[in-house]
Amino acid sequence: MTLSDTTKAELVELGSRYPEARSALLPMLHLVQSVEGNVTNEGIEVCADILGITAAEVSGVATFYTMYKRRPMGRHHVGVCTNTLCAVMGGDLIFERLKGHLDVGNDETTDDGAVTLEHIECNAACDFAPVMTVNWEFFDNQTPESAIEVVDRLRAGETVQATRGATITSWREAERVIAGFEDGLVDEGPTAAGASLAGFEIAQERGWAAPAFGASTAADGEGAADTKLEAEQQADTTRAGTETLIEESPADTAEEGNDD
Ligand code: FES
Repeated sequence: MTLSDTTKAELVELGSRYPEARSALLPMLHLVQSVEGNVTNEGIEVCADILGITAAEVSGVATFYTMYKRRPMGRHHVGVCTNTLCAVMGGDLIFERLKGHLDVGNDETTDDGAVTLEHIECNAACDFAPVMTVNWEFFDNQTPESAIEVVDRLRAGETVQATRGATITSWREAERVIAGFEDGLVDEGPTAAGASLAGFEIAQERGWAAPAFGASTAADGEGAADTKLEAEQQADTTRAGTETLIEESPADTAEEGNDD
């Protein structure tokens, strides 16, 4: 596929959004993916030309970040978090069950081109573990059964709603949004919920608030030590003292006893 003049103009426009045009390389590569389905050699050349850098430099970026794909993607990208917390909460099992159900391995696409499955690293949504993403929208607190239901509905072309986020579009459409071109769905669906808000709700109930900017704290205000000596005197050295006693050897103790 050849990148259209419209896409090239949008790539140039992305470059113009930054004081240094080359700062736009990341969104530019997402835009290339949204059009071509992956980062193609042509996409790399065009980005390099626009930014006045080498194709090797662009390629270095495209091969460093896992969100850039060098092989064509399916209509939907399904990511299963298998990082530590999600893994122990069921992520590993979900990934195994999806591989079997879809008959694909990691980073492979189903025969119908509908789903590319990938195990992904922590999505900073550990409070909803185990987490799955579809085109980077969150599906929280998943089970093997709920994950299979989601991919079946995606393959059937049904409308699927993220548990936190917007209605699922396609991976290419999501890539265009990540590139910086809004799709009007930004306010759709909840963006925070449950465990993420627990601390906030407790603070509200108890009337807790963060100190105002510039307010004195124990570190810099009343009660704070002015000198290193004062700081040492204020420090809680109880534990250190205990450890010193434990580490004292019997020989040392005997020696001290003999001195008396
Ligand atoms: S470990 Fe899965 S979101 Fe953090």
